[in-house]
Amino acid sequence: AVARTPFIAGNWKMNLDHLQAIAFVQKLAWSLADAKHDFADAEVAVFPPFTDLRSVQTLVVADTLPVAYGAQDVSAHDSGAYTGEISGAFLAQLGCRYVIIGHSERRTLHHETDADVNRKVLAAQRHGIVPVLCVGETAEDLEAHGASAVPVAQLRAALEGVDGSKELVIAYEPVWAIGSGQAATPAQAEQVAAALRGVVAEVFDDETAKATRILYGGSVKAANIAAFMREPNVDGALVGGASLDIDEFSSIARFSK
Ligand code: G3P
Repeated sequence: AVARTPFIAGNWKMNLDHLQAIAFVQKLAWSLADAKHDFADAEVAVFPPFTDLRSVQTLVVADTLPVAYGAQDVSAHDSGAYTGEISGAFLAQLGCRYVIIGHSERRTLHHETDADVNRKVLAAQRHGIVPVLCVGETAEDLEAHGASAVPVAQLRAALEGVDGSKELVIAYEPVWAIGSGQAATPAQAEQVAAALRGVVAEVFDDETAKATRILYGGSVKAANIAAFMREPNVDGALVGGASLDIDEFSSIARFSK
């Protein structure tokens, strides 16, 4: 069996400015180092707002902190007349290893389509950044089509023309579970994660499917992380609200199965 490194990711959304980010990342790193004895050996990453990235880079690189970081979005374009957009090249230069793409808040509030998401995945990969591709169904989708249909269709569309030899992380975030306090059950997350892994196997191959990390997101907290991590196809979590609290987020990162 391929051992996939567990991945605990904090999506800060539009919270914490660059000064708060410096304090947060420093405390997070101390708290993870302190807890080395029960550290689950997960990779831990934060996804701050764009304006924090330079500060986080300086801190992480200078202190070689065991925290990865990435951005919450990327432009589908590489440069040019795109006012307000941030290119993959800029993110790569700031040391971003990851970028979140297709978060449900981007899809809903900013009308991003599956085609936009696909172009952003390709843009990230062009710049050597690992996409954390978000998919998930709304409550209405769940009612009408079951849990897997929409995330599976979103994933297929996002993978159009994508190079399977480049790393990709998938985050299954049921829209009804985001910020609601109502997480999916571990069994529901497992069912959809397994279906998504099946799509990766079909589009690429078994080996790629086995190596691809699939996260669950939606009301993850310290109290429920271990149950998700026990599921064979769930390799980590994309955490929103609970990633803004150091104690809570570091306990999530130190989940024990
Ligand atoms: O991207 C993570 C997020 O959408 C989940 O948010 O607050 O339910 O953990 P939350």
